[in-house]
This record gives sequence, structure tokens and C-alpha cells, in this order.
Amino acid sequence: MPSTTFAVDVRILSVVGNRPQFVKSAPVSVSLRGRADEVVVHTGQHYDPELSAVFFDELGLEAPAYRLEAGSGSHAEQTARMLPGIERAVLETRPDWVVVYGDTNSTLAGALAGAKVGAAVAHVEAGLRSFDRSMPEELNRIVVDHLSTLLFCPTGVAVENLRREGVELGVHDVGDVMHDANLKLAPIARDRSGALGAAGVTPGRYVLLTLHRPTNLGREALATIAEALRRLEEPVVFPAHPRTRAALGREGVALAPNVRLLSAAGYLDFAALASQARAIVTDSGGVQKEAYWYGVPCVTLRTTTEWVETVESGWNRLVPVEEAPDPIVAAVRDAVTPDHHPPLYGDGRAAERIAEVLCTIAR
Ligand code: UD1
Repeated sequence: MPSTTFAVDVRILSVVGNRPQFVKSAPVSVSLRGRADEVVVHTGQHYDPELSAVFFDELGLEAPAYRLEAGSGSHAEQTARMLPGIERAVLETRPDWVVVYGDTNSTLAGALAGAKVGAAVAHVEAGLRSFDRSMPEELNRIVVDHLSTLLFCPTGVAVENLRREGVELGVHDVGDVMHDANLKLAPIARDRSGALGAAGVTPGRYVLLTLHRPTNLGREALATIAEALRRLEEPVVFPAHPRTRAALGREGVALAPNVRLLSAAGYLDFAALASQARAIVTDSGGVQKEAYWYGVPCVTLRTTTEWVETVESGWNRLVPVEEAPDPIVAAVRDAVTPDHHPPLYGDGRAAERIAEVLCTIAR
């Protein structure tokens, strides 16, 4: 029987809920089209249009068949609100695979609800570790990896992390799906000069900042970061997560005039801003890699990273915010572009490999 005839019998239930998952699932959805039935569950973890709807529009994602509207809350509340809806979707659709992405609370809920009713779980971006269990994402990663039957790793380091935890079956080193998305959309994004114009900056002459991790949003941390930005003097474009905006207001931390505070950006506007920055400052996971792909040096306001390759290759520096403004200012001022840019995250065909495995391996 030709494999295409076999493959259309495959049903995939994809669980997504927030920004990075929309980006990661898009290339996989494209690769599955015509080969498998994909049903999408949107947990509603991100509900503001600039964190959710714009990504569906820009990335051409399938409209979700299930919308759970879990919304915000404590980790327990948020995760708990997602579970019954995902369970219902699994029981109604009876998928061959429940596919979850990354390390957020939506990932955890998808894996837990799926595994508990006996569905096979496939984890895209498996095996990453920061070895910092104070991060909610680290706990999510560990649990999800141990609930999954298929583990799609973006790097050899991730494969090795799993091996050390005794997870070797079902592990596939496929490359990074974010790289797939980046290769496809970066050329389109570079032509969008509107985002730079709206921020009043010119290519190569500004710093791009993102900040959303709870540890960086207390009064002391925000004040330290604001002081570092003031001392930089060059323009800093800052598309802020709604929670970050709220924290700035709540803690009464003012930003200097060189900082252009914007609403959270869609994928393409963000890519336009990131690809043309002189340097990027962030506490996000994915943005560290995007900086690398754009050939822009990165300063990460954290003590650890899952993306160790970006640091080892000299493109990324970790600077803890607790160390006060001076090291942040120095790291951003000194950020330079190393000579070597090795292909660290695959060849842009990770999604194809994932679709192939999902459609051909019987669960
Ligand atoms: C989540 C992920 C994080 C990921 C990030 C990408 C977890 C534990 N964290 O963090 O790994 O890097 O998404 O953006 O899952 N809020 C809004 N509008 C929204 C959604 C949230 O204003 O549409 C506000 C609410 O005050 C909420 C807070 O942001 O309490 C945090 O949202 P949440 O989804 O819990 O975590 P993120 O910080 O977005």
C-alpha cells in the first residue's frame, strides 16, 4: 500500500496555547497537511490579540476546533482549567498522537490529559534542560518528557539530557522547528520597514529588548534594568508583554526617553525588529535562538539557559539582573558579532521529519 494512502488515516491532536507554541506548531501543521487529519486545541493561555490572534493570522494556522479559554491565574488554576477540555478533545477525536510543544503550562496540561486517558503523546522540543527547578518551564519539561512516547529533540545536547534521565526509546534528533519557521518568514519580515519606522529607529542603530519572566518583574529587578537602559543612551525598542507593562505601572518604574515602549508585537513585526537590531536583550528562551539566526548578538538576563550552544559559540551572554546595572550596560555595549556562525539547530527540515515519524510510526 503506498505510504500516502496509509498516512491519511492518521489523526493528530495538536495542543497550543501561547505565543511560542503558535510559532512552533505552524511548520508542523504545514508538513502534516494532506498526510494526516490535524485537530487543534487552543487552551486560551494567551488571549490578548497581540499574543494570540495575530499569530494565527500571520502564520496561517488552522482555526482551532476546540477553544478552552483557560486564561490567566496561578499555575495550578491555569493548568487545572485546561485539563477537562483537553481530555474531552482527546476522547472525542481519538487521535493517534497528542502533540505538545515546548515547555509551558499548556504543554504540561496537554501531555497530562492525553497520557491519563491512554493517548500517545509526542513532545516537540523535548530534552531541553536549564537545570534550574525554580523555573516553572523546567518542571513542565521534565514531566512532559517522561509522559511522552515520542520525543523530538532540537539538538544533540537535548538527546544527551534525556539519555542521562534514562529516556532513550522514541527519541528523535530532528532539528529545531523554530528554525524552520524562521527560515521561511525571515525574508518576508526583513522587508517590513513599518515596524522600525513606527518605533522611530533605523537598521543597526538600536537595541531590542523583551522581558516577561516573573523573576525579572519585581520592583528591584525592573529598577536595575531601567537604570541599565538609561545608561545605554542608544535607542531601545521594547515591545512589552501585557504582564510586563502592568508590572512597570504597579512598581512605579519609569523608563528613560531613549526607551520606546510598544505593545507586544506580532511574529512578523517582531522579526523585522529583531533581525535589524544592533543587539538583543531578552529573558525569553526562543528569542535567544532567533537572535542567533538573525546574526545579532544577544544578552540574556538570566543565570541559566537551555540554549547553551548560543553561549558556547559566543553569540549570547548570560548576565543575571541581580548583578546590578554595570554588567548589563557593559555586556550590551560590548556585544559583538563573532566570526563563526555554525548551523546549531538543524537544516530547516525539522517539521518534515516530525510529520514523517508521526505519520509512519504506529503508536
Ligand atoms: C508563558 C510561558 C512562557 C513563555 C511565554 C511566552 C508558562 C509557565 N510560561 O509565559 O514559558 O515564554 O508564555 O509569551 O506557561 N497575560 C495577559 N494577556 C494574555 C496572557 C497573559 O495580559 O493574553 C498576563 C496575565 O496577567 C497573566 C500573565 O500575563 O497572569 C502571565 O501569563 P502566562 O500565560 O501565565 O505566562 P507568560 O508569562 O505569558
